[in-house]
Amino acid sequence: MHDYQAPADLLKDRIVMVTGAGSGIGRAAAKAFAAHGATVVLVGRTVSKLETVYDEIEAAGHPKPAIVPMNFEGAAVKDYEELAMTLEDNFGQLDGLLHNAAILGDRSPVELYDPETWNKVMHVNATAPFLLSRAMIPLLRKSDAASVIFTSSGVGRKAKAYWGAYAVSKFAVEGLSQLLSEELDDERHNVRVNSLNPGATRTNMRARAYPAENPQQNPAPEDLMPIYLYLMGKDSLGVNGQQLDAQPK
Ligand SMILES: NC(=O)c1ccc[n+]([C@@H]2O[C@H](COP(=O)([O-])OP(=O)(O)OC[C@H]3O[C@@H](n4cnc5c(N)ncnc54)[C@H](OP(=O)(O)O)[C@@H]3O)[C@@H](O)[C@H]2O)c1
Repeated sequence: MHDYQAPADLLKDRIVMVTGAGSGIGRAAAKAFAAHGATVVLVGRTVSKLETVYDEIEAAGHPKPAIVPMNFEGAAVKDYEELAMTLEDNFGQLDGLLHNAAILGDRSPVELYDPETWNKVMHVNATAPFLLSRAMIPLLRKSDAASVIFTSSGVGRKAKAYWGAYAVSKFAVEGLSQLLSEELDDERHNVRVNSLNPGATRTNMRARAYPAENPQQNPAPEDLMPIYLYLMGKDSLGVNGQQLDAQPK
């Protein structure tokens, strides 16, 4: 899995959505999926960042992506439903969904945690993936073999002091992943759902969480792509309901 070597056409003709596609791990994943043939739906809140990723994919000669500006903080249920209708009209189905967007919130004890920040983190990190999954399930069911990846965290499997709403939101993500892995495991077995913990990775979020750390000690998002490609492509058929780690322990 970690040393997986993806065939160049692994995701040819597949439609794959990535949230938080404008930076960090989401950007690397969007580019890796496109480089292996996918038409990527780039979802994120900062349009200029999505446009940069779009340009990079286009300049590399990979399938033309689509940009969906969406701020999960304020998006309403109907925005998700409209997105599903647009995708249905344009593509007819969805073959992959990487739930990757998240925010860190505060690093502080529960006793002092700001309730407004708590709600925001829970909404962006846990409720938005619920709303997006809910809207996309009919399109995922239309694929012959769809893969849904939820992005977890070490503190979403074993909480650590001062990680506050971020940790609790990632526990919720693990729960949602487990629920869906069972609910979508019908007789067709055409939608598989797993959670993936990237582990310490050189991104803006990591730098905010560990300001004193030397970023060079952590792998770049691009280094994690073998397992993202493995899970998104057909070589992971039958892998369902797993809690995986992008970096070997
Ligand atoms: N880096 C690590 O060490 C590490 C470890 C464990 C888990 N993770 C997880 O890995 C995932 C990717 O994180 P990262 O490290 O790549 O962090 P990042 O560089 O901060 O990327 C987070 C992405 O989420 C997007 N996003 C944030 N709030 C949003 C909102 N309200 N609506 C739409 N998009 C929003 C951001 O958009 P903007 O760029 O426009 O702000 C950004 O593209 C997250 O789920 C994170 O929890 C990371």
